[in-house]
Amino acid sequence: MGPLRNAYLDALGIDRWVRRDAPVEIASIPQSVTASQVTPPVTRSAPPAVARFEPMAPTADWNTLRERIAACTACDLCKTRTQTVFGVGNTNAEWLIIGEAPGAEEDRQGEPFVGRAGQLLNAMLLAVGLPREQVFIANVLKCRPPGNRDPRPEEVSRCLPFLSNQIALLKPKIILVVGRIAAQTLLATDAPLARLRSKVHAFGEPATPLVITYHPAYLLRTPADKRKAWEDLKLARTTYLRVAAGNA
Ligand code: URA
Repeated sequence: MGPLRNAYLDALGIDRWVRRDAPVEIASIPQSVTASQVTPPVTRSAPPAVARFEPMAPTADWNTLRERIAACTACDLCKTRTQTVFGVGNTNAEWLIIGEAPGAEEDRQGEPFVGRAGQLLNAMLLAVGLPREQVFIANVLKCRPPGNRDPRPEEVSRCLPFLSNQIALLKPKIILVVGRIAAQTLLATDAPLARLRSKVHAFGEPATPLVITYHPAYLLRTPADKRKAWEDLKLARTTYLRVAAGNA
C-alpha cells in the first residue's frame, strides 16, 4: 500500500491495519469479478414500491438539458429551492456518481456534494485514485426536498428523465450509486441496501456496471461501516479496470 493511498484511507477514517493473509491493496484484488457478484439486468415484471427508472435515448444535449432543468416546475420542489443542482464534473467522465438529492449547502451553491458529506465523498473517490474533477456527480433529484426529507415518489418520477438523459449523454463505463434511495431508484427495487451492496449490477441497455455503496452522510453518522464502503469502492475500481481493459 503506497503512502498516498494510506493518507487517503486516513482521511476516510479507516484503520489501515490488515491481516497478513488478507491484504486490502487494490493491486492485490483479483481482476475478475466472480459470477456470483454479477446480477443479471433488472427485470421490470414486478411493480416496485418506488419510482421506476426508465433508461432512454438522450433527447437534449448538455446545454439544453441544463436549461430545461433550471426552468423545471414539474413538482412543488421548485417553490422551495434556491436553485436547481444540475450535476458537476467532466462530461467525458468514465465514472458517474449518483446521490439522492441536494442538501442545504448544495441548494445554496448549485453544486452536488459540497457539504460535509461531499468532503467525505471526495475522500472516498480519491482513495480509489479519482479526483472529483475526473468524475461526473449527479443526484436523482435536482432540487432540495425541504428539511432534507426523503424524496417523494412523484418527485422522483418527475425528475428521473433528467438523470436518464444525463446517463445517456455521458455513457459512463461505471456507475457508483451512494445510498439506499438512489440505489432503490436506479434498480427499481425496494430491497434493503444490505442486499444491493457487494455485487455488480447491470444498468440499462448497454448493461453499464453499477456498484452500490453507503451514502457518505450515513458514513459520517456510522463510521464503523467505512470499512465496508472501502470494500465497495474496491469492487467498483476492479470492475472499472476490467471494463476499461475490454474484459467486461
Ligand atoms: N446528499 C446527496 O445525496 N446529494 C448531494 O448532492 C448532497 C448530499
